[in-house]
Amino acid sequence: MNGRKEDRRLPPETAAATSRDAAAVTGRTAGVTTETNVVSSGPNGAMISVRDLRKKIDKEEILRGVDLDVAVGETLVIIGRSGGGKSVLLKNLIGLMRPECGEIWIADQNIIGMSERQLGSVRQKVGILFQSGALFDSMTVEDNIAFPLIEAGMRNPNSVRTRVNEVLEVVELEGENAKMPESLSGGMRKRVGLARAIIRQPSCVLYDEPTSGLDPVVSDSINRLIRRLQHRFGMTSIVVTHDMKSAAKVGDHIAYLHEGRIYFYGTPDELTRCQDPIIQDFLQGRSESTER
Ligand SMILES: Nc1ncnc2c1ncn2[C@@H]1O[C@H](COP(=O)(O)OP(=O)(O)OP(=O)(O)O)[C@@H](O)[C@H]1O
Ligand SMILES: [Mg+2]
Repeated sequence: MNGRKEDRRLPPETAAATSRDAAAVTGRTAGVTTETNVVSSGPNGAMISVRDLRKKIDKEEILRGVDLDVAVGETLVIIGRSGGGKSVLLKNLIGLMRPECGEIWIADQNIIGMSERQLGSVRQKVGILFQSGALFDSMTVEDNIAFPLIEAGMRNPNSVRTRVNEVLEVVELEGENAKMPESLSGGMRKRVGLARAIIRQPSCVLYDEPTSGLDPVVSDSINRLIRRLQHRFGMTSIVVTHDMKSAAKVGDHIAYLHEGRIYFYGTPDELTRCQDPIIQDFLQGRSESTER
């Protein structure tokens, strides 16, 4: 993480998180979203449901009413301009940041207002691969990966090692237990971060830029790994990425975060065909229209 102090206070108004907007959510119909795209999922059926999520940092409104559903076993890709709030959104989803208002449903639990202890059990369901990797430099690969298990109270060294070896196999890093993070390549660091994200057998993984800074071949292997976790374990995933190739490869749906809201939601094909100028500017990497 970036080392800046996270906002851990829960404003009193959070308790008044509304369900009145639950009907006016981002639809599953492709296209630029409007408040009329009504879906009935959310707490009923979706693995992750977000309703009217609002988050300010230093008086700046970063998230301005995010509505989102991720079905069980699907991979949702979130794209959007740099600084637009994608990482902030992921951190809210696991309670590392607390929103001003809104609802975040992980399966059948609304995590808003939960204590740190309750959040601990949510984090067992939801693993996260941080944008920076966030490995502890002074710990071996094995200790980095084992960290969430130890924190959760698993003390038997044999059981810990067995689990570590299992996830090392999943990320194709068997035998690298004793290496220190500094001796790993970028792709290996991402894999170690991923192994740590899945060690507690979550049903959901959030990936923040899993392929950034990696060459196309390594990126492709990470994409295949994300798909494999989906197929092998039925994992529900959110992947934040700038890598459109990767988005098309792993995403069942793609959501475009723009000015603090989900501006577009659809399949990768529907995104490519979308003629909306803001979407087209983003896809073509054009800066003119937004700078006017
Ligand atoms: N811990 C923090 N303290 C202060 N400001 C923050 C913090 N985290 C994020 N921000 C601010 O919130 C905004 C959104 O940041 P965020 O990291 O979510 O963007 P992003 O969409 O993930 O960008 P990128 O694609 O570059 O990773 C930025 O203006 C950023 O400076
Ligand atoms: Mg980010």
